[in-house]
Amino acid sequence: MLGRASNAFRKTFKAIGSLARQSQAPHPGADEDQGSVKAWLARINDFHDRGLLSEQSRRLIVAHDINLDGHAVNSFSEKIEERCGESLRALLVESVANAEAALEEIIKWKTAIQCADSHDRSKGYFHDAEPYMDQQWNQIIYPVIKDSDFSVVVDLACGHGRNSEYLRRLSKELHLVDINQSCLDACKERFGNSTHQAQIFYHLTIGNSLHSLADDAISFVYSWDSMVHFDKLIVADYTKEIARVLIPGGSAFLHHSNYGSISPDSDWAKNLGTRSDMSAELMTLYAQDCGLEVLEQKILGTEHGWGADGLDCISLLRKPMNARV
Ligand SMILES: C[S@@+](CC[C@H](N)C(=O)[O-])C[C@H]1O[C@@H](n2cnc3c(N)ncnc32)[C@H](O)[C@@H]1O
Repeated sequence: MLGRASNAFRKTFKAIGSLARQSQAPHPGADEDQGSVKAWLARINDFHDRGLLSEQSRRLIVAHDINLDGHAVNSFSEKIEERCGESLRALLVESVANAEAALEEIIKWKTAIQCADSHDRSKGYFHDAEPYMDQQWNQIIYPVIKDSDFSVVVDLACGHGRNSEYLRRLSKELHLVDINQSCLDACKERFGNSTHQAQIFYHLTIGNSLHSLADDAISFVYSWDSMVHFDKLIVADYTKEIARVLIPGGSAFLHHSNYGSISPDSDWAKNLGTRSDMSAELMTLYAQDCGLEVLEQKILGTEHGWGADGLDCISLLRKPMNARV
């Protein structure tokens, strides 16, 4: 997940792990649940201090404040536990060798929960962003997606539906997906169960999955102004899910961060424009890994009205006609 380099690292790390296991010092709270988020934080910090972690993991630990005093990871530790407690416990069998996987789990869910929380609480965005939609749709979005098959569409991370407003005019079935029930409720109030020619369906996601959608069922997946905040680990999971749900020949229009090309392994919540560590290059790798073609990528910057050059990217992906992902 952290990139191809980490696979090679993992193999080396397993070898170091079997040596290091014998000399592990007891961790704080040894009588507590050793698979809990807090126990893993202590363990990861111990491994960090003993020089057992890769350069990339060390960067991630610093960027995301993965320690017992880290504000976000501690404030959300119970919710992180709900999402990945089972995986963290399973990873205990080889705690040194699996430290990087545990770190990924904690970072993935910390970022998803924090992003959900911030959009659930501050509703100002939805109101303020609405007037920009017409210009963004006509000048940036529609020219790229105009040849897509709009029959069965997913609006991923739909918010209060400012994009769905346009998509519903083009589609027969529109599936609205969000991590916040409050966003789905706002859309339900706005659109009901059908509007224009489209039937509308609502899906609450845990933050990295399209579990309520069947395989090979969707002709077009769309996401605007949401994935820009999603950590690369979350984007990697969603890309796999998109490959699963698209019909052969179906496509996906994904507006995501490119800030990772400037600041890799960084924390979306501290970055310029709350952009994540995702990049155009990583999207190409994720797409290829799950058998999707990259039809087009466009980097967005000041000429498109963005605050900085190179901040975001739009990627148009396609599932090949003969695909069995
Ligand atoms: C900045 S808003 C954009 C909403 C909409 N796309 C728009 O352009 O108005 C981000 C949205 O992403 C949703 N969100 C955050 N994290 C998510 C995740 N991991 N999976 C799905 N939705 C998520 C939030 O609830 C919010 O509705």
